[in-house]
Amino acid sequence: MPRTTLFTNIGELTTNDQAPGREGGPLGIVRDAALLAVDGRVAWVGPAAEAASAVPSPDEIVDLGGRAVIPGFVDSHSHLVFGGDRAEEFAARMAGRPYEAGGIRSTVQATREASDEELRARLAAFVGELHRQGTTTFEIKSGYGLSVEAEERLVRLAREVTEEVTFLGAHVVPFEYREPDGPGADAYVELVTGEMLAACAPHAKWVDAFCERGAFTAEQSRRVLEAGRAGGLGVRVHGNQLGPGEGVRLAVELGAASVDHCTYLSDEDVAALAASDTVATLLPGVEFSTRQPYPDARRLLDAGATVAIASDCNPGSSFTSSMPFCIAVAVRDMRMTPAEAVWAATAGGALALRREDVGALRPGMSADLVELDAPSHVHLAYRPGVPLVRRVFRAGEHLAGAA
Ligand code: NIG
Ligand code: FE
Repeated sequence: MPRTTLFTNIGELTTNDQAPGREGGPLGIVRDAALLAVDGRVAWVGPAAEAASAVPSPDEIVDLGGRAVIPGFVDSHSHLVFGGDRAEEFAARMAGRPYEAGGIRSTVQATREASDEELRARLAAFVGELHRQGTTTFEIKSGYGLSVEAEERLVRLAREVTEEVTFLGAHVVPFEYREPDGPGADAYVELVTGEMLAACAPHAKWVDAFCERGAFTAEQSRRVLEAGRAGGLGVRVHGNQLGPGEGVRLAVELGAASVDHCTYLSDEDVAALAASDTVATLLPGVEFSTRQPYPDARRLLDAGATVAIASDCNPGSSFTSSMPFCIAVAVRDMRMTPAEAVWAATAGGALALRREDVGALRPGMSADLVELDAPSHVHLAYRPGVPLVRRVFRAGEHLAGAA
């Protein structure tokens, strides 16, 4: 027998499905709503008053007490398998030192020194954090191993907790490859595109490269991304974070699912994104934690680009796992409306991962719901720092929050 759960008495239901008669543009809001999940999938959405006839006797009824419900957050960018932290570096930055990509190498050392059990325990704690804050789908990148064995270990551990695993061997050039003592960046790219990719691809779905001054050139990034693609992986890119660069152009040209950061964009970059189906993923925690200028989401949205928001949770540039925090910052400092930010953190993240089963509450999709201790989605930005996520359900089942 299929299992049926009726979520009812929802004051404001954000579906991200613009069916006729709904409010809020792309948010597809239904007021005084109910949602029926059958075997973990959304089967019906409508006015709560009609639920009794639509669903005569569900196995379970969940009463939302008139609160707001949104789709589970889709965090399309994180780096959660690592050892150590960089609190001292953060403190020094707040005292005036600039952020540099080179800090990644100190986490590489701590990660190489950590045991599998340590990394697993850490990862499990982060996954708990994500769930409690309403994230029901998340991506994890490697990139703090930077040797064949170490990268293989990171994608393997990440794969234990999510199917959205990204191979980021091209994060920075590791110590032992740096010139003048080591063989150099091109030799490292050889390793990444050869033996390292072969070891990591079986555990990964995506390949990524950090195309930035201090990391990899566009030409080196292209080699990595093309090799990954030839090895069956989808393409995503870190680009235009620390200054203008070729990351966005490269991502669009390669048909990447997403280009992430997008802090420094030329008019051509914006136009190229708008004309493509590459998602511009903005990472508000990064500019917050590095004290850099925020990307201009308004400019991207007004040009017609698709924008996602993600946490980029990592020990260097953005040590937050909170999508509500990212939404609040995106609204305050990137000139997004609350509706745009909520959409970007749910449907936008799903597009960035090319997922058609999450990010919206439409019949057929996974019943991933976040109940807010608030009457509306706007409160996520209006009440920054307040833990508004009350209960979280994934595939119709209780995942976190009040029992
Ligand atoms: O997304 N940009 C590259 N990688 C991370 C930073 C990692 C670090 O500083 O450890 C990022 O910001
Ligand atoms: Fe990142």
